Amino acid sequence: MTGREERLARLAKGWDEAVTGYESYYVPRFAPWVTAAVRAVGAATLPEGPVLVPCCGTLPELDALVELLPGREIVGIDLSGGMVRRARERAARHPGVSVVEGDASTLDVRRRGRCAAVVSVFGLQQLPEPDAAIRSWAAALRPGGRLSVVFWPSVTELDGPFARIAEVVGRHVPPGDGSWADGLVPALTAQGVVVERDEWPSFPMSHPDAATFFDAHVRSGPMRPLADARGEAFVGRLRAEFLSGAPAGEWRHRPRARHLVARR
Ligand SMILES: C[S@@+](CC[C@H](N)C(=O)[O-])C[C@H]1O[C@@H](n2cnc3c(N)ncnc32)[C@H](O)[C@@H]1O
Repeated sequence: MTGREERLARLAKGWDEAVTGYESYYVPRFAPWVTAAVRAVGAATLPEGPVLVPCCGTLPELDALVELLPGREIVGIDLSGGMVRRARERAARHPGVSVVEGDASTLDVRRRGRCAAVVSVFGLQQLPEPDAAIRSWAAALRPGGRLSVVFWPSVTELDGPFARIAEVVGRHVPPGDGSWADGLVPALTAQGVVVERDEWPSFPMSHPDAATFFDAHVRSGPMRPLADARGEAFVGRLRAEFLSGAPAGEWRHRPRARHLVARR
C-alpha cells in the first residue's frame, strides 16, 4: 500500500466507526450549510444529466436535492463503506439515486462533461489534494452545469469549541498545510468555469456542554482517525486539556465555512 492509500484507508475506517454518532450529532447541526449548498445549484437553468455528491457521508443532501430537482439522477460518492451503507438506506425509496463507494478525489473520466451539477459539503478539506479534486469535479460539468462546494477552512472561528479543539490538538500534532485553499479559485478558473460566489456562511450551533462536544467530535467526527492512531491514553489527555477552562453548560458558537459556487 502506498502512503496515500494507507491514509485513505485510515480515514475510511475512522468514518466507518463514526457513522452512527455522526448521523445523530452532526447531521442536524450541519443542516443549514447543506441546505445552502443545495439551494445554490438552482433548478431553473440546470442542464440535463446527473447530480454528483462527492464525500456524501450519510447523504444528508438528499431531501433538499430531491425537492429541488425531482426525478433527477443523483449519485453520492464516499470513501467509507459504513457511510455508503447508511446513505443507501436513506436513498432506498428513490429509484434514481445511487451511492458509490470510492475515492472522490478524481472522478471517473466517463463523467467528464456529462453532469448537471456537483454538490459537496464538508468533504473537500479532507482530501489529499483539494485543489486537484475540485478541478476534477469542475471537469465533470456540462455547459451550464453548476458546482456548489462547502468546506471547512483552516480557521472556522476565533473562539468556541472548534477553535479550542484546534488549539488543543495543535499542541500535540503539527498543523496541516492549509495553503491549498488559495489554489481553489485559480483551479476552477483554469478549468474554464466561472466562480459566481465565494462566501463564508456562518450559522449558529450549540452543544449541551463541552464534554459532550469533545466526545462527539472525537468518536463521531473528523478526529476519529487520530484517536484510533494515538490510542485511549492520548484521547484522555486531550480531553482533560480541552475541558480545563472550557465554559460550563450549553456552549453556543457560530463557526464559518467557505462556500464556492461556479458555473460552466
Ligand atoms: C464530514 S463528512 C460530510 C458528509 C456529508 N456531506 C455531510 O454534509 O454531512 C465527510 C465525508 O467525507 C468522506 N471522505 C473523506 N475523504 C474522502 C475521499 N477521498 N473520497 C470520498 N469521500 C471521502 C468521509 O468518508 C465522510 O463521509
